[in-house]
Amino acid sequence: MNILYVEDNFDNYKLVEFILSKNGFIVANAVDGLDALEKAEKYKPDLIIMDIDLPNLKGLEAATLIKSKENTKNIPIVVLTAAHNHEYKNIAETIGCLAYFTKPIDPISFPQDIKRILLNDSHGSKSIDHLATQLSRSLEQKAREAAHFNKEILKGERRFNVIVESSMDPIFIVDTNGIMTYANSCSLGYEFLRSFYKKKFDFSVLFKDDVENLLKLLNQVGYLKNFKFSIENTTFIGNFVLFDGEVMIILKDITEIENISQKQKDLDNISLVGRIASGIIHELNNPLSAMKTYIDIYPSKISKVNNKDEVVWEFANKLKTSLEKILELVNNLTFFARDKNEVKVKLNINTTIKELLSFSDYDIRKGNVNLKLEYKEPISLIYGVKSNIEQALLNLLLNANDAVRTSTNPQIVLKTDENDDFVIISIADSGPGIPFEIQKEIFEPFFSTKDDGKSTGLGLSIVKKVVLEHKGGVEFFTSDNGTEFVLFFPKIKEENLDGKDQGI
Ligand SMILES: Nc1ncnc2c1ncn2[C@@H]1O[C@H](COP(=O)(O)OP(=O)(O)OP(=O)(O)O)[C@@H](O)[C@H]1O
Ligand SMILES: [Mg+2]
Repeated sequence: MNILYVEDNFDNYKLVEFILSKNGFIVANAVDGLDALEKAEKYKPDLIIMDIDLPNLKGLEAATLIKSKENTKNIPIVVLTAAHNHEYKNIAETIGCLAYFTKPIDPISFPQDIKRILLNDSHGSKSIDHLATQLSRSLEQKAREAAHFNKEILKGERRFNVIVESSMDPIFIVDTNGIMTYANSCSLGYEFLRSFYKKKFDFSVLFKDDVENLLKLLNQVGYLKNFKFSIENTTFIGNFVLFDGEVMIILKDITEIENISQKQKDLDNISLVGRIASGIIHELNNPLSAMKTYIDIYPSKISKVNNKDEVVWEFANKLKTSLEKILELVNNLTFFARDKNEVKVKLNINTTIKELLSFSDYDIRKGNVNLKLEYKEPISLIYGVKSNIEQALLNLLLNANDAVRTSTNPQIVLKTDENDDFVIISIADSGPGIPFEIQKEIFEPFFSTKDDGKSTGLGLSIVKKVVLEHKGGVEFFTSDNGTEFVLFFPKIKEENLDGKDQGI
């Protein structure tokens, strides 16, 4: 006996086939309703076992069509389904299906039932009249399903809209005519995107000089991923996807992340110097201290032997200068190697500056520099490590002092100020400015353009380390007329001003 089992799930098929073949049946498989129609006509099986939930053409519709065709209408059909559904059962009966089995089947009784059905079969004698009714019902069912799908599609669309609209990233679509037809609200927050809304989109805004190549690539490959570009101080990563001729563009504003990772890089650089420094300092300190003692007492010893020996004097002095440079370097490196967690106290920055100038003012004024001081009084307090902030300010003052050496009218202006969040210190000089080519490097440890035998190139990296450790920042503005360095430190807000004031 040949049986056609219409079942789209291969495992289900194999199980039933196994049970039936054990009982002497030969079983073939059809994978959906359409396949069932074809195989029923072609192989004329003795029985069809029909699943209901099938792709393309549902089981009951396939059964209806088999029963309505002259050359297949006598093939007996039974239903085997997971659906315990009365309506389906009624329809199956109406079509002329001889039995309605539900999964899972009983491996003993199922083959016996099949045998009995085949023996008693009235060979599809059910009236075809019912089929017309059934077909129209089936059409109605189809219409219902279509309505259901439409509803699902609308729901999906609404979901998509909510997701895209609430996205924190700009998402927009450029259609086949190059018009920006859709932009989510986040996109419209960016001026350069807003200006193209409902207008022709200019890809050269994103792709710059590479626009032709990149558009070609996008058309060839269908997408561009992780494309990084900057517009007006804002950095984005963009994903471009070609979809039915339209380009969907999803941007991610990474300006913040980039800034943070740059700060992290700076800190890593500085802490690397610190780690190396602490090792070197340890080894250098003892021999250096010994040398310094010898050099200090050397002149007194030499004068006793021969105080006219100028060459020896000169050498001694040169040695002294070199030693001083080494000591300066060690001193600066000590700064990098020191403990990170020094205690911060409340500081009045005006007082700190005044104290600093009381012992370093001379160095600056001796070069006839006009040092102007403009204090904002009163000024909010900050939390800081006093000696570190003094060191940072001194480094900036010494740089300014070096810079104005060649000015006809050397001037340095030191100002303090504050805004809502920060106390601000600015040091402006009338020097020649910082050449563009080196502006990126000046904060790097050991970068120096000075060959005076004294400079270590650590001055500005110390400044940067100090401000970063205070959660502040440093910026500079430079031109042919001079340079201004601006430091800012988070101020202590009124409500946090309690406890003892120290170091003020
Ligand atoms: N106010 C300024 N005007 C012009 N150039 C500056 C100024 N400040 C810094 N620079 C440039 O930045 C470089 C790095 O400065 P930094 O203070 O780190 O090192 P340095 O002054 O060369 O050495 P050190 O501070 O160890 O004596 C300087 O060599 C100089 O070229
Ligand atoms: Mg310096």
